[in-house]
Amino acid sequence: MPRISRFYFGIAIVFLMIGIGLGLKMAITQDHAMAPVHAHINLLGWVTSALFGGYYALNPGKAHGWLPRAQCFIYTLGLIVMLPGLYWLYDGNPAIEPVVAIGSMAVALGVALFAMVVFTPGRELPTT
Ligand code: HEM
Ligand code: HEM
Repeated sequence: MPRISRFYFGIAIVFLMIGIGLGLKMAITQDHAMAPVHAHINLLGWVTSALFGGYYALNPGKAHGWLPRAQCFIYTLGLIVMLPGLYWLYDGNPAIEPVVAIGSMAVALGVALFAMVVFTPGRELPTT
């Protein structure tokens, strides 16, 4: 499996554990106010990261070079800025909104770079 896939699955499973932890907390406390935070931790942090990792594993020729590295770096950095910021925002701290906005834009840029990876012809390289 390419290193980038291993990295994506590593961060994905961490976000799944956090997302499920938050889901259980909401279910136990009967306070669902954090549902959008839970949804994005699970869908951006777990599902989308794992899909990216799966794509690179299925297309190892696309997993090398500056473009996938930049894609992975910017998307992951975006998640690390956006998701904790979102938690603080829904925890009643509106001042954090600009940080969430910057993180969201980095996530969106990571997605745009992934579109470039998908549409750029890949080299046929052996799986590493
Ligand atoms: C043990 C695991 C989980 C628990 C206990 C849990 C619990 C919850 C709870 C209590 C809500 C709020 C429901 C509401 O107020 O309408 C919720 C919403 C949500 N959960 Fe989970 N969840 C779990 C796992 C997951 C996973 C793995 C995903 C995605 C891969 C996920 C995706 C969502 C989404 C998208 C929403 C928002 C739904 C909406 O907007 O109506 N959850 N979850
Ligand atoms: C940078 C990317 C994204 C931004 C800025 C964003 C923004 C938002 C916003 C503003 C809401 C409304 C929240 C509220 O009602 O308080 C929302 C809800 C939601 N988004 Fe996203 N979103 C993003 C990516 C995604 C992705 C990739 C998915 C699915 C794979 C997704 C799934 C959802 C779901 C299921 C809800 C409803 C959650 C709920 O109300 O409980 N979002 N999103």
